[in-house]
Amino acid sequence: MRLNTAIVTGGATGIGRAVALEFARRGVNIAFNYIDLPGRDIPEQALLTETALRAFGVSVYSERCDVRNLEAVERFVERAKAELGGVHYLVNNAGITRDAALWRLGSKQWREVLDTNLTGAFHCTQAVARLFRVQRMGKIVNVASIQAFHPSFGVVAFAASKAALIGLTRATAAELGPAGVNVNAVAPGYVRTEALESLPADVVDRAKHNSVLGRLAEPEDVGNVVVFLCSPEARHITGQVIFVDGGLSIV
Ligand SMILES: NC(=O)c1ccc[n+]([C@@H]2O[C@H](COP(=O)([O-])OP(=O)(O)OC[C@H]3O[C@@H](n4cnc5c(N)ncnc54)[C@H](O)[C@@H]3O)[C@@H](O)[C@H]2O)c1
Repeated sequence: MRLNTAIVTGGATGIGRAVALEFARRGVNIAFNYIDLPGRDIPEQALLTETALRAFGVSVYSERCDVRNLEAVERFVERAKAELGGVHYLVNNAGITRDAALWRLGSKQWREVLDTNLTGAFHCTQAVARLFRVQRMGKIVNVASIQAFHPSFGVVAFAASKAALIGLTRATAAELGPAGVNVNAVAPGYVRTEALESLPADVVDRAKHNSVLGRLAEPEDVGNVVVFLCSPEARHITGQVIFVDGGLSIV
């Protein structure tokens, strides 16, 4: 790949880590951020991810940085740019869910999800947009979800955040297109990550059974599509949502 630095939010684990590894495999330097999540060992996972990325011979910059905080995001982007010599790709992958029936969902939970999944992506997009416009190049991929189109029970905040993220994707594509910047989204179905372990086993089994391909996605199934959307081969694709769901959404 010609351009050489990607920012991946939430890149310590799961899909973000797979995206970072796919970029690194192609010689792209990586900056990633993360925050600690209850019951998870994210800082330890971040170290493992860094080691795995460096094994590809690329430069890596990682930082605990909360995408909900605009100033922290701006500092992170500045440091990533200084450490790695530029920024060419942004993948808005950081995301959380707070599953509860609509009538039980607290406004704190609602805000946590919207602030992370939507406002966090807006902060990161805004922070790179100035740079991308000046350099007249850049690619942005947002990690949405099939739940934005086909919601299960109890995902009101998550589905709303991902649907809005798709709105952000299309509007950003329209605004940055004239500057030569492509902006797309992927909508994964069910992907085998630690986050999936919080779902009841029967929900996951049903998803696997109902998908046309009869399998769950591995994180790299999503990572490969994200990296394709950042490649020169995808130069005429913008404002689109690519489903990576094994056909779950067509049946
Ligand atoms: N796993 C799935 O089945 C699935 C399906 C559809 C979409 N997604 C989306 O994919 C993305 C990654 O999910 P995952 O399954 O890899 O889960 P994960 O929990 O392993 O990864 C989420 C990452 O985001 C980071 N993060 C969370 N809040 C943050 C914040 N405020 N600031 C910075 N980083 C933050 C965490 O530290 C973590 O590393 C999410 O946006 C999720 O909604 C996942």
